[in-house]
Amino acid sequence: MDIGLIRPYEVEYNNRDIVDLEEAISALGHKPRNVYVDNMGIRIGKGGIKLTQIVSRDKREDVDVDGAVLRHLGFIKDFEQFGSRLWSVRAMEENGIPVINSLNSWLCASDKLYSFILLSKKGILVPETESSENMFVAYNAVKDFKEAVIKQLRGAMGFGVFRVNDADVAMHIFSYFTNLSKPMYVQKFLEKKGGGDYRIIVVGDQVIGGEFRKGVDWKSNIAQGATPLPAKLNAEMKEIALKTTEALGLEYAGIDIAETKDGYYVLEANPTISWQGFKQATKINPAGHIVKHLITKIKK
Ligand SMILES: Nc1ncnc2c1ncn2[C@@H]1O[C@H](COP(=O)(O)OP(=O)(O)O)[C@@H](O)[C@H]1O
Ligand SMILES: [Mg+2]
Repeated sequence: MDIGLIRPYEVEYNNRDIVDLEEAISALGHKPRNVYVDNMGIRIGKGGIKLTQIVSRDKREDVDVDGAVLRHLGFIKDFEQFGSRLWSVRAMEENGIPVINSLNSWLCASDKLYSFILLSKKGILVPETESSENMFVAYNAVKDFKEAVIKQLRGAMGFGVFRVNDADVAMHIFSYFTNLSKPMYVQKFLEKKGGGDYRIIVVGDQVIGGEFRKGVDWKSNIAQGATPLPAKLNAEMKEIALKTTEALGLEYAGIDIAETKDGYYVLEANPTISWQGFKQATKINPAGHIVKHLITKIKK
């Protein structure tokens, strides 16, 4: 079978996670294929939808993979560009190509606001959060939470996530956000036991393992210098991770959980995880699990 790895062509995404997936696909006797979401042609005509992609200056090929792993849609600079990339993936799904994570679940989970709406509806504990385009709403949220964390709706790796306890200092930043038409996402700061959080990886309906990411400061992203450590997961944590994955309709995910004196909080559900730290801590490579799960889905 041909297994596509969906990502943009514009930026180099041939990182170690992609290589792990390629190796897992080959090891299982299948063929890895690049699917470049920004290089596709979607021809709509009498015969239905025909998908092609430019793979080099003078070569165009059919996007005729049997299934695909959605990795990244790239850095979006324009609303219509975002639509174009989204609907390229949707066109693959419409043509009967199984994609994991599905575009729908990927969209839900990669947005910090919508994912929290869905999780709280399912009774999953998340930190108190207020999101708004109005800076006075954000200002009041910082006052209420006293110690707050400010995030982007679609950020990653801890970049741009900052902590503030003075609403008037925050107001200066909020006024810049307002000028840039950026929404403000304000969250109550949680004191995490052990100075880090847990990352649990789920594939299908199985927890494949967990790591504890010990931060150098309050952030515990590997990209922010945190150390990945092996973790023993209890039944409650596993259940929260599975419930979170299911609530968002994800088929593979990295669920971040903070342990506090008031219990376990889900900080985030990541639909396109990077697993190098996890691999180091647990000696488990998620790539094989993800590819096997996709192959089972294709065969169904
Ligand atoms: N409400 C919070 N209280 C305490 N720490 C937090 C909170 N939210 C996030 N963090 C820390 O900041 C890091 C980045 O936040 P996160 O929401 O996961 O964004 P990103 O998508 O950038 O990883 C997390 O690893 C977590 O440890
Ligand atoms: Mg995170």
